[in-house]
Amino acid sequence: MAREVKDARSEQTVGIILAAGEGKRMQSDRPKVLHEAGGLPLLDWVLRAFTEAGISNVVCVVGSGADTIRAKYEDLSFAYQAERLGSGHAVMQALPQLTGPGYTFIAAGDMPLLRGSTIRAMISEAEDQHIDCVLLTAELEDPTGYGRIIRGDDGNVEMIVEHRDATGEQQRVREVNASCYCIRTELLRELLPKLETGNAQGEYYLTDIVRLINEWGGTVGTHTAPWEECLGVNDRVQLAEASHLLYSRTCDSLMRSGVTIMDPACTYIDPETTIGRDTIVYPGVTLEAGCEIGSQAVLYPGSRFHHSKVGDRTEVQNSVLLESEVGPDSRIGPYAYLRPGAKVGSHCRIGDFVELKNCSIGDGTKVSHLTYIGDADFGRDINVGCGVVVVNYDGHDKFRSTVHDDAFIGCNTNLISPVEVGRGAYIAAGTTVTEDVPEDVLAIGRSRQTVIPDWQDKRRKDKSSRTPT
Ligand code: UD1
Ligand code: MG
Repeated sequence: MAREVKDARSEQTVGIILAAGEGKRMQSDRPKVLHEAGGLPLLDWVLRAFTEAGISNVVCVVGSGADTIRAKYEDLSFAYQAERLGSGHAVMQALPQLTGPGYTFIAAGDMPLLRGSTIRAMISEAEDQHIDCVLLTAELEDPTGYGRIIRGDDGNVEMIVEHRDATGEQQRVREVNASCYCIRTELLRELLPKLETGNAQGEYYLTDIVRLINEWGGTVGTHTAPWEECLGVNDRVQLAEASHLLYSRTCDSLMRSGVTIMDPACTYIDPETTIGRDTIVYPGVTLEAGCEIGSQAVLYPGSRFHHSKVGDRTEVQNSVLLESEVGPDSRIGPYAYLRPGAKVGSHCRIGDFVELKNCSIGDGTKVSHLTYIGDADFGRDINVGCGVVVVNYDGHDKFRSTVHDDAFIGCNTNLISPVEVGRGAYIAAGTTVTEDVPEDVLAIGRSRQTVIPDWQDKRRKDKSSRTPT
């Protein structure tokens, strides 16, 4: 989770995240704020920024797709906007939760690049300089679609004009509203009910609060951020742009902490991931849902890790690891598939086309090729030959098997679970193990080979004597 900075002022501040919009421009059945960028849903990024800023009292306004959002964020407080009548109307729904003095910090749920440090700076500016409202703004090369900051001759902000409502001259303004506001709560409560819908979209725009504050005689200030922090995700093109920027932000901080990332533009690491010093990450690696990677590990191209751990100096090539753990000094892949609950020790070798599921593999054990191990516990220093299958499922129930240390499992062995193979036992290739095998024995369970002499000669003669029809 994001690091929380203790600040008495932030703790007083109520946070509001606007997430009720339909997100029509996404052309999606999923609520916009649940779309992922940089490895996390948009809403998670905004929540992380709030947490980082020390705002713990957060209300999320939901409407479209409310049930889905509520189910995913059980610990969050919500306000419900039954009809989508605009961003100002969304804030009105949270009014009952806006008690006490101090400031309310409002951010749109679609701005995942917003930083906690920016939120903190805005709150400090508002409080230290007694400003009624601090807006986040940025200068954009192409401000199309954004609300424009309209300043008077004295340089003070007069109002925000939405792109659709702007005159030609106003549209040339490149300073935009990021949809992020720190407003004195008492004033917000007083002025919100005064918003009106006389605009191109017939909505209650939150942006109009700026004009109302000026009319009331209040003060409006701005805090300028780098353009990317203000990026609002309204469609899939902006989603991809935000995603790219967020992934590179994560890669930057990992590289600065001593991780080599060969090509950050083609590396997808979520921000909950930890990676040790001197680990090398090749292009095309995806690390999802909080992975822990040790130091001096090598993650070769084309591997996907989901909520998995990899030990120091371990190498992984073209493999998929889901909710799995691998100890230090092991080699995984190419083309290994570690499914949930696979636990591999140190100095192991898990080779090509090996699938592991809900199993433990002890230190020094080698499973080099074409094998399935599911629901089983393998001890240390075992050699598993090619094509071994733990037959864990009888079509109805799953069973668990155990193989003890130093055993040798010959190629093409089937272990029909549940069975136990004793320490140091040797299973001959092609054996189907249906009963427990004691320690240090040879178990062989295959039919004897029959050799029929001159069989091909007879066959050829038979063939030539047949008259064609
Ligand atoms: C908004 C701002 C615009 C700013 C831009 C920055 C308004 C009127 N305009 O425009 O000045 O430049 O963000 O990205 O605010 N929402 C609700 N309920 C509603 C409508 C919207 O909760 O009825 C929420 C949305 O879920 C979203 C946020 O408010 O998180 C902003 O709405 P959106 O439609 O994205 O506004 P923009 O057109 O991006
Ligand atoms: Mg938006």
